[in-house]
Amino acid sequence: CAVPVIAIDGPTASGKGTVAQRVANALGWAVLDSGALYRLTALACIDQGVAPDDESGAAKIAAGLDVRFVDGCIFMAGQDVTEAIRAENVGLFASQIAALGRVREALLGRQRAFRQLPGLVADGRDMGTVVFPDAPLKVFLVADVHARAQRRCKQLIEKGFPANLADLTRDLEARDARDQSRANAPLAAAPDAVTLDSSQLSIEETVNAVLDLWSNRG
Ligand code: C5P
Repeated sequence: CAVPVIAIDGPTASGKGTVAQRVANALGWAVLDSGALYRLTALACIDQGVAPDDESGAAKIAAGLDVRFVDGCIFMAGQDVTEAIRAENVGLFASQIAALGRVREALLGRQRAFRQLPGLVADGRDMGTVVFPDAPLKVFLVADVHARAQRRCKQLIEKGFPANLADLTRDLEARDARDQSRANAPLAAAPDAVTLDSSQLSIEETVNAVLDLWSNRG
């Protein structure tokens, strides 16, 4: 019988990452932060001077990523890049290369390799639609843009990055538009996904809602 997957998709800063990690902890499952793979590819492209529209250059970098995920830290070519990949410019670059079909293809097998017993919680944009279409639970996690901009602002400030609410709101809207309108694996709820709006929910309430959906799945 297939290894169970809980797919959590949704727009930028909807809280997917934190919720996925806590659901995985509660169940004792592995977690996949698929956005980190796009961010790592972006960071390597920036470092190596590959332009965001250079599909073959970016795909080559994606295919050759030397990455290790260790206890919540991310290492690329032996360097700790856990914080560096969270910078806004890396996120924006990531959303540009994520529109390139060959980059997505290069990262597909790497994402599926995270599927292991006793289960996987995977967060991203296309976990339920493309990467794990057979996931027994698919959650589409949304929150209004103002709630998301405020959360992102707080996160960045806590991490010591500069942040401005108006700029963040504009960037989130631009990134949402790009993720939703691209031809390859656009951000969309799978037909069998449950939509959960976390605008008015705390992290705990959102985590509990996902765990309830898992316990009560048909
Ligand atoms: O989730 P996060 O903000 O870290 O992802 C960075 C970018 O990577 C997103 O803006 C999105 O364009 C892209 N992405 C994607 N598919 C995924 C995960 C992330 O296209 N499964």
